[in-house]
Amino acid sequence: MLNILDFGKKKHKGDKITMVTCYDYTSAVLVNRTALDCILVGDSLAMTMHGFETTVSATTEMMALHTAAVSRGAKDKFIVGDLPFLSYRKALSDNMEAVQTIMQAGAHAVKLEGTSGNVGFIRHLVDSGVPVMGHIGLTPQFVHQLGGYRVQGKTGKAAKQLLQDAKALEEAGCFALVLECVPAPLAKKITEEIGIATIGIGAGADTDGQVLVFQDLLGLNTDFRPKFVKQYMDGADLVTGALDSYVEEVKTGVFPDAAYSFGAEKVAQTA
Ligand code: KIV
Repeated sequence: MLNILDFGKKKHKGDKITMVTCYDYTSAVLVNRTALDCILVGDSLAMTMHGFETTVSATTEMMALHTAAVSRGAKDKFIVGDLPFLSYRKALSDNMEAVQTIMQAGAHAVKLEGTSGNVGFIRHLVDSGVPVMGHIGLTPQFVHQLGGYRVQGKTGKAAKQLLQDAKALEEAGCFALVLECVPAPLAKKITEEIGIATIGIGAGADTDGQVLVFQDLLGLNTDFRPKFVKQYMDGADLVTGALDSYVEEVKTGVFPDAAYSFGAEKVAQTA
């Protein structure tokens, strides 16, 4: 299993870090069988697993429940748990309570969004033994403040601010940083100018690693197809096709046939 030191080592070797979101036990068992480096139990689960409109609906309790399920399934993977909306913008003791809940559910690190107002808290977490992953660029918890889901850092001023934020997060002690929906040249510049690993999503090829949402990369989410998502299979068609085959076979009596039924002999044996 990776540890936080490996993120820096991989950056310096040019060995790309691979991350995927994961929210449940069954998927975690599958991810655990792959070569993926690490898992993000993202607050995107509010949308992918619970059908909410935005990640603003994620709660610490939801995050802990899903983190615990993932940690039972993916025993060999480094797991980052998202701190949900406002859970780290309260009194220190409340913020620490949220972090403790996520870490004790099985996360090896937490991720939080934004820089302004978080730096002191990040330092406190790092000093308390909690590895922190930053997240800048498009920060979905700020969707209402940002006026929608838009590429960030497009103007010179905004790009300069993001570079400063990245440096401030490194300085505060983050071990890695998610760059979401920023122009590829800016992501490259940030990656070159900071010493910690950058993990991109919609940030081009020159970050130190990539993260995608599980449902997006497997083509399970038919409603959401932004430019940066590559689907590695057509999961929605495969799953609905399999379910419709089941319906058809049940209706036509093809399933269950003798191979899937207990004969008298088997009943006698099991009795
Ligand atoms: O919650 C999430 O899925 C994320 C990724 C998009 C980075 O934060």
